[in-house]
Amino acid sequence: MEADSAPRNVADRARGLTNDLVEALSRFIVDHRVQEAEFEAALAFLTEVGQQRQFGGLADALHLSRAVDDVTYADYAAGTASNIPGPFYVPGAPELERPYRLARPEEPGVPLLFRGSVTDAADGARLAGAHVDMWQANDAGMYDVQDPSLPKMNLRGTLPTDTDGKFEVLTILPGAYQIPHHGQLGDFLRLIGRDSFFRPRHIHFKVSNAGFRPLTTQVYFQGDQWLDKDSIGEAKPELVAEPTPLDASAASRLGVASALTCTFGFRLIRA
Ligand code: BEZ
Ligand code: FE
Repeated sequence: MEADSAPRNVADRARGLTNDLVEALSRFIVDHRVQEAEFEAALAFLTEVGQQRQFGGLADALHLSRAVDDVTYADYAAGTASNIPGPFYVPGAPELERPYRLARPEEPGVPLLFRGSVTDAADGARLAGAHVDMWQANDAGMYDVQDPSLPKMNLRGTLPTDTDGKFEVLTILPGAYQIPHHGQLGDFLRLIGRDSFFRPRHIHFKVSNAGFRPLTTQVYFQGDQWLDKDSIGEAKPELVAEPTPLDASAASRLGVASALTCTFGFRLIRA
């Protein structure tokens, strides 16, 4: 968009933010006595990160994406905490059919019956027909978009909540995985001591309902060794569910020898 045609408030905001940022950076250069060679190395690094399309990954690893998400959704405090969607969201996931199964029958991993509910954060009213879009990594910690041997839309699907605002979906416990850190981005993160690239096991959700603000978040699992060392700093304690063994008769009704189950309630804020 031409600067001249930008709405006044957008141009004012851009000017104000840039002036403040430049002032802060100038002060930083003076305070830290940043030398020409260091500045040139920083510019070369950022150029490489841009060429490798890794700016998102850099912002995630430095927890800047989380900071922006927290600021953007700060007034959602009464609702379920938000999380960034991350780079692996794909729109247009298939609508699942009842009984809901996110995982193919042959999907390797520990079966997990995820029991969710969606309510109005203001009064706890159950939201029937809320739209739930979920995606996750497989048992090996890989998303379909990372591994061409996986079927398209593997472990992705949408479903509506029932008349009670609830849903049950059979999936598998996702694997923990490392965020992408190839090339100079990884070298840099190791250099500054941010050398654990792991994310705890998690399932991503986008939950929406007419008249409410859409929620993007992730659900984690109690007992995960990476919960307090999440490389992107998003594993908020209120988003941790507790997996427990599913009773044998329920597991056999689902056609699996054994399974875990967990429950999680999503609270939406009125628009
Ligand atoms: C994810 O959770 O899918 C993710 C988030 C940030 C960086 C890499 C992956
Ligand atoms: Fe993820």
